Amino acid sequence: MRLLLVVAACVLSLSLLTVSAPAGDLPPAEANAVWNYITKVSPYRSWKQWPDYQGVHTSRSPHGKTNQVWVNRVALHSRKVPLDYGAMEVKEAYDAQGRLVSVAVMYKVKGYNPGAGDWFWALYTPEGKPKRAGKPRGCISCHGAAAGNDYVTVHRLP
Ligand code: HEC
Repeated sequence: MRLLLVVAACVLSLSLLTVSAPAGDLPPAEANAVWNYITKVSPYRSWKQWPDYQGVHTSRSPHGKTNQVWVNRVALHSRKVPLDYGAMEVKEAYDAQGRLVSVAVMYKVKGYNPGAGDWFWALYTPEGKPKRAGKPRGCISCHGAAAGNDYVTVHRLP
């Protein structure tokens, strides 16, 4: 009898897990979970780009010579400051030869960092190893120059 109860409890908790974590769900604000999301669950290369920032651009940032940025649907459909929760931006940075040198992410998570736009920040190697993640002061202070545009530097929100 007790065994039956244990089995029943396991089955129940497994089904609850499935219900609470469907495949398309947004990831928690954690570097590896976010990398998994943007490369496997919803590959960012299949996302769109801002209408006013398409293709490869010369970098003004310290992340490489050139860059291009993809945005998820939530970001793309955000019509004003601040962007909607769940918005993500992914920037690929390239060296002078056009080789990928890093992947930078901004991900808007409700309650994550209310003092600085609730953005989760992460910088990865091309292989997905996190070099910086969370609330790095460097990312926030430089992007802070665009705080009035919700820390977004490549697209002007109305
Ligand atoms: C010294 C300034 C500076 C620092 C530090 C900086 N960035 Fe940026 N970032 C920029 C600029 C400028 C752009 C515009 C594109 C470019 O020139 O590379 C940008 C663009 C981006 C974008 C594309 C979305 C957008 O429009 O803003 C992401 C994502 C991003 N940065 C993430 C990060 C992360 C993560 C960090 C910290 C690890 C970081 N940045 C640190 C200046 C900075």
